[in-house]
Amino acid sequence: MEKRKVRFEIYRYDPSKDTHPRYESYEVTVSKGMTVLEVLQFIKDNYAPDLSFRAYCRSAICGSCAVKINGYPKLACKTQVLREVEIYQTDTLRIEPLDNMKVIKDLIVDWDEPFEKLEKVKPYLVPNPEVVPDTLDKESRISPEQHKKYDRFTDCIMCTACYSACTAATYDENYAGPFQLARLYRFAVDPRDGIQEERARIGFLYDMWNCVRCEKCADICPKHVSPVNGVLGLRGIAVNSGDNTPGSRHVRAFYKSLLESGNLNEMLLPLRTKGIKGVLENLPLGIKLLLKGKVHSPVPKKIKDHDTLLKVMREVMEEENG
Ligand code: FES
Repeated sequence: MEKRKVRFEIYRYDPSKDTHPRYESYEVTVSKGMTVLEVLQFIKDNYAPDLSFRAYCRSAICGSCAVKINGYPKLACKTQVLREVEIYQTDTLRIEPLDNMKVIKDLIVDWDEPFEKLEKVKPYLVPNPEVVPDTLDKESRISPEQHKKYDRFTDCIMCTACYSACTAATYDENYAGPFQLARLYRFAVDPRDGIQEERARIGFLYDMWNCVRCEKCADICPKHVSPVNGVLGLRGIAVNSGDNTPGSRHVRAFYKSLLESGNLNEMLLPLRTKGIKGVLENLPLGIKLLLKGKVHSPVPKKIKDHDTLLKVMREVMEEENG
């Protein structure tokens, strides 16, 4: 059986005693199929009884064992050591706690913040009395097509790996977070839900428009949920419902620019998004761009093949609206 010595650099920090975090290094002989979680348990049993980490199901179901492995959030119980060694072409793996959350001890992070945010978005069905019968004798049925709209999002195990990787959560304390917004979307498209219209508004309150679409959450999700699609879905609901917040107006301004000329008209974008206030806010930047000759004409000039672009846009919209 394939065996190999691998060095593990493990983040150690006990805020009740330590002034700074440190890395402790352990060498372990790893056999094929051994997971990072098994190595952590081996180190705890043999070298460092005070090493703290979370784990429960050992089957990639409970979501408790997420840590960073060479900088990348992953489930320790699902990640095989020798595969990582192959990916990174190294005999050293660095194991650290997730980002965007406070460290309680070693690899354990404080989940209070992401789960308090989850609570704020009403992550549960609020039954619509017109659809959901109030007696258990009758079923509340939905069609396979309706179910398909949110099926993928029900696979989330709330491991918080996406929250750790999220750029918006790093800089915006009010941002709900990727798995939280995906959960919000899951109920926004559930025909049994009684507050569907309110859900896009909740997304707005918790800064769904601040998602920068870096798509890291889609990249790292161990269940391939792609939370960013939930965020985009919520934005789509807001735009289609005639929402008049700056985010929706910004989308419409982009769309209008493409319809008019096929180019993004940066001169008109602030005006159409935020009105005169937007123009005044962007004035200093606009003057700088003007002086450097980077401001395009406010009078749109159509791109070559504009008709083809319009045809493509129409087809995409028809496809998306089924
Ligand atoms: Fe449950 Fe890893 S221990 S997901």
